[in-house]
Amino acid sequence: MLRVEGVESGYGRTTVLFGVSMEVPDDALVCVMGRNGVGKTTLIKTMMGVIKASRGRITLDGRDITDMRSYQRVRAGLAYVPQGRASFPSLSVRENLQVVIETSPHGVAAGQAALDEALDLFPKLRKLLGRQAGFLSGGEAQQLAIARALVTRPRLLLLDEPTEGIQPSVIIEIENAIAHLNATNGLAIVLVEQYMEFALRLAQRYVVLDAGRVVAEGATEGLANESVRKLLAV
Ligand SMILES: Nc1ncnc2c1ncn2[C@@H]1O[C@H](COP(=O)(O)OP(=O)(O)O)[C@@H](O)[C@H]1O
Ligand SMILES: [Mg+2]
Repeated sequence: MLRVEGVESGYGRTTVLFGVSMEVPDDALVCVMGRNGVGKTTLIKTMMGVIKASRGRITLDGRDITDMRSYQRVRAGLAYVPQGRASFPSLSVRENLQVVIETSPHGVAAGQAALDEALDLFPKLRKLLGRQAGFLSGGEAQQLAIARALVTRPRLLLLDEPTEGIQPSVIIEIENAIAHLNATNGLAIVLVEQYMEFALRLAQRYVVLDAGRVVAEGATEGLANESVRKLLAV
């Protein structure tokens, strides 16, 4: 579905990614792992068009999206949940979702229907629609960020560290929701994640980055946590 080929990107004159290639098969969940600062967020941002690749190519179902703007990539089927889950803190949960519905690529009615499905996935969020987003817990804010991304009915979801700063009892709810989206809805997902066990339970494939390069990749099936730990210690 998504193919990244020899991508180089960074900030200003600083190059962060050096010829990264990876693939997300149809319906697959691929996790991207690696220590802090290796370029995971930069990779996701380059996939989304938040920053531009200075070299290489990104294709979605064979269509070249390398030079597309982010909003065009949303129309093409990508959605992005940024690290830190940025929402409008002074707006209510409902208003945060409404903003996206009004710009939904498939129209307001389709956006509303997608939101209803997303709220079925996160029933707690439905009870919090009137709450100011700035007063949500970490887990609730993450659920809001994922629900907001689902409003555009993506075919590929980019999730950057969804468990960061979230208490264990809530992590399981997020895990179940991600598993449901991938297994039942067939949504392809790129998951950046430091919590290795979480990532390996969800993913069919993994990619390990180090210093802006892919240093390991493969199927997660039969992979022992110990061997990934070794890879992450490179
Ligand atoms: N906005 C930015 N401007 C300049 N350098 C950045 C910016 N964001 C990240 N970097 C640098 O790019 C490198 C990779 O960062 P990042 O992709 O956020 O890593 P990760 O998500 O794996 O922790 C780091 O050295 C970081 O300092
Ligand atoms: Mg990051």
